[in-house]
This record gives sequence, C-alpha cells and structure tokens, in this order.
Amino acid sequence: MQVKLLHDEPLAGSLPLIAFAVFEGNEPLDGPSAQADEILDGDFSRARAAGDFRGREEEFALFYSDDVEGGTPRRILFLGAGPRGDADSETMRKLAARAVRRAEALHMTRVAVQVPLAVLDDVELAVQASVEGGALAAWDFRELKSGSEDPTGERSPGALRGISPPASPLVEELVLCVTGDRELAERGLRTGRAFAAGENLARTLQCRPGNVATPEHLAEVAQSLADEYGFDATILGPAELEAEAMGAILAVTAGSTQEPRLIVLEHRGGREGDPPIALVGKGLTFDTGGISIKPASGMEDMKYDMSGGAAVLGAMRAIGELGTPANVVAVVPASENLISGRATKPGDIIRTRAGKTVEVINTDAEGRLILADALSYVVDRYHPRAIVDCATLTGACVIALGNHAAAVLGNDEKLIDELRAAGDRAAERCWPLPLWKVYRKQLESEAADLKNVGGRPAGTVTAACFLSEFVGDSTWAHLDIAGTAYGEPRAPYHRKGGHGFPTRLLLEWVRDRAG
Ligand code: BES
Ligand code: MN
Ligand code: ZN
Repeated sequence: MQVKLLHDEPLAGSLPLIAFAVFEGNEPLDGPSAQADEILDGDFSRARAAGDFRGREEEFALFYSDDVEGGTPRRILFLGAGPRGDADSETMRKLAARAVRRAEALHMTRVAVQVPLAVLDDVELAVQASVEGGALAAWDFRELKSGSEDPTGERSPGALRGISPPASPLVEELVLCVTGDRELAERGLRTGRAFAAGENLARTLQCRPGNVATPEHLAEVAQSLADEYGFDATILGPAELEAEAMGAILAVTAGSTQEPRLIVLEHRGGREGDPPIALVGKGLTFDTGGISIKPASGMEDMKYDMSGGAAVLGAMRAIGELGTPANVVAVVPASENLISGRATKPGDIIRTRAGKTVEVINTDAEGRLILADALSYVVDRYHPRAIVDCATLTGACVIALGNHAAAVLGNDEKLIDELRAAGDRAAERCWPLPLWKVYRKQLESEAADLKNVGGRPAGTVTAACFLSEFVGDSTWAHLDIAGTAYGEPRAPYHRKGGHGFPTRLLLEWVRDRAG
C-alpha cells in the first residue's frame, strides 16, 4: 500500500473516507473532529450525548456527510481510542489499522486518518507507528487464491464456481493527516514504511506452505534481497555444510529430499572492521517431528516453523531499505524435518560443527540442532558484538507465556534489557526466563556430551540452555517465538496466520544499537 502524509487539514480536500480518533470520557472534541462533527450538523455529538459512543477502544461510528464530492457522500468515521492517559505508539498502530480494515469492509481502496499527534508528544514515533499499523493491516496473503490477480474479486474463478466469496479489494492508499514538524514526520514515514514492508515480507514467507517455501526458496528470497540492497550473500548447500562439518544441520535434514541451505547475508552500514551484530533465525520449513513424529491434528501449522528465519529476512529488507548505519550479519539455517529410511533416529549420536557430540533423544527437538551449527558458524566467522536468535523452539513457551509475549533468555542482562525495551516500543513484547546453570543437568547424556532434550520441566529454559553451549563467550540472547509468531489475530493489524513477529522488535533493537 501507498502511505502519504498530508500536512493540511483533511476536510479541505476530497478524501472519500476520513477517520478521527476520539478518546474516552466527555472531553470536548479536538479541532479536526469538532470540524467533522460540524459538517455532520452535530450528528456525532448527538451520538455521544445519547451515550452510544464513549470512546472505548472497540467502538466506532460511521456517518455520511452531505457535502457531496463528485456525487458520493463523504464518509466520516470516528474511532474510540480508549483513555487518553493510556495512549502510546500501539494506540496509533491500532487506530490506523482499524481505519484500513473499515475501508476494506466498505470495499474502499483509499482511506485517510487524522493522527492524534498531540497525545504522544513525539511526531516521528506517532507517524512511524501509524504507518506501520496501516500498512500491516492492508497486507493479506492472497497469492495462492485463484483470481487474486483481480483486485475487485469480481472475476474470481473461485467465486464464479461458488467456492469462495469474492474478497474485498485490498486498501491501496492511506493518507495520514499530520500537524507539526514536517521533517520529523517524514522520518517517521520512512521508518514506518520500511519496518512494515519488512514485517509483511516475513508474513508472506511464513504463510507460504511447505511445498513453496522450501529451504531453497528462502535462499532465493535472501539472494534477491542481496541483489536489491547490496548485501553480501553466502549460501551453503549440502556440500558446503559437509565441508563445514555441520553435523547437526545434516542430521536434521537427513530424512528429507529437499536440500538444506545455510543462508548468510551481510549488511555493511557501519564502520569498516567493526564487528557486526548478528541476527539468527530458525528456518525449519516444515516440522513433522521426524521419527518422533508429531500428532496429525494441527501439523499443517508446522509450515510456520521457519518464522524466526522469516523475521530475520524481513528485518534485513528494512535494514537494506533504510541503509541502517550498522554492520549486521543475518544467518538462517533452513531445512525440513521429515521422515524416511535415511532419517536420524532417536538415540543417534551426532557431531556438531563446534565438535560437541549430541545424543538425539527426540528428533522433534530439531530447532536447537540447526541453530547450534548456525550459532557456532556466526561466532567463529564474525565474532559478533552481540547475537540475537529467534525461533519457534518449544511448545513449553506457549504454555508459559501464551500468545502475548515471547520468552527471552541469554547470557547478558544488558542485552536482555535492550530486547525488552525494543519489544515494548514495537508492541512485540518479550519476557525473561532464567538461564541458570542448574538447568544444564537436565541435558546430561550417558553416551554423548549432551542430549537434545531436557524432559518436560522448564522446556523453554533447557532448550535455551542447549543453545548457550554453542555461543562460546559471545554476548547472546534467544527469543522463543513459538506462541507469538503466528496464529489467531491479536491486534487489528493481524490476520489469522503469520504475524511477522518479531521483525519490528529486531528492527527497534538494531536501530537502538546503530544509534
Ligand atoms: N517447532 C517445534 C516447537 C513448536 C511447538 C512451535 C508448537 C510452535 C508451536 C519444535 O521443533 C518442537 O517440536 N519442540 C518440541 C521439543 C521437545 C521434543 C523437547 C516441543 O516443544 O514439544
Ligand atoms: Mn520439532
Ligand atoms: Zn521445530
């Protein structure tokens, strides 16, 4: 979608749908909303007086003015924004998203939003968040639906056969009406656009099914990002993984006919010779569990097991587009976890790239294996200043934190604090779990250096504990995104499916580091 700024009052132009935010309580309407109410001859004030609109977050009220523009009445939408005192950047994201979804419901492709800048006291952030909310809300995964090439949906062959109702067209243009410092607003626009485009790329990759988003496909997408933004790309295939002695990735991929890839992208936006920061994402393109097979019910969701890798590629897209002044290296180990006569078996002992041997008790604990080799590779090659990995790693994380926070664990309190702060800014939150030495005992193996599972207790902690064995003394933190990367919508800019989480968190953190 296109997002534009209008440094002017919205009612002057010919915008066909304009949304205004109204906070909870009985405070008088602000300038632009008061004007809108005036055009409506006080219809909205009367709705408020009747108690039908209190400004709560779930409320909206839609009116039609008779200041007819080109034969169509103008639509004026009031959105409840909750208590003014609670307003933050997420309020802005949600307002823009709700305006876009209202437009979508009305089959309109253009919408304007009056951004209530005053409440945030930070024009750049308010604009960035509004752009993000709008552009994230407009995105949908339609590329595999017949007729999706027709934006009106009218000639959809599926629809003609009565298979699916015609989809409403996607909203193509969002006009944000802003006041105040133009330069700050333009900066917010640029950042918001790039962050949303990055997250939307992550979502698209997540939603692509396992037969489309193969390891090879992820590598192709990474290569095209490199071509577009000038990253250095290194893509390792089976022979190179063998040469690197990446026994853990090779063990996970053994049961599959799809070739694995280790994807490495380098962005050099910082000082030459400065060690990079590293983003590592689990790119498991389909997780059957392997010989320790998962139950059939819901297994289709395991196409999302590459969500960490998708977020890392999405973040790199934004980093490239913004020319972020930092050195960043991205690593995505990509593999399937399938079943065949060649598959790794429970009890098999493998040798990781780092030299440590692992007893594979459960072939479904494969994410930590591919990450182990990726982490040791990035540590040895790049000596990163800090490493952040993200992975749909454990079902236990969903039990611990549900769908509203990722777990964060690592070996550096300051890094963990930075990630928590970045998550708060992005509204992609994470919450710490302890990574104490006592948990290491659960990974002790009779026959190898360690085993790949630590039993039921503290499953998220023991998984992170396993990863910690492969980062040497690097500053490192891990985000378990099993409960947050995809699923039911949790915000008005989500749809059911891939959420792109934690693309924005990573980007806020990288920007923070870049200074
Ligand atoms: N990809 C799964 C984790 C997962 C589960 C992600 C549910 C999203 C939703 C991972 O590879 C896995 O299977 N983990 C096992 C580990 C266990 C065998 C120690 C799990 O969590 O059950
Ligand atoms: Mn698994
Ligand atoms: Zn997995």
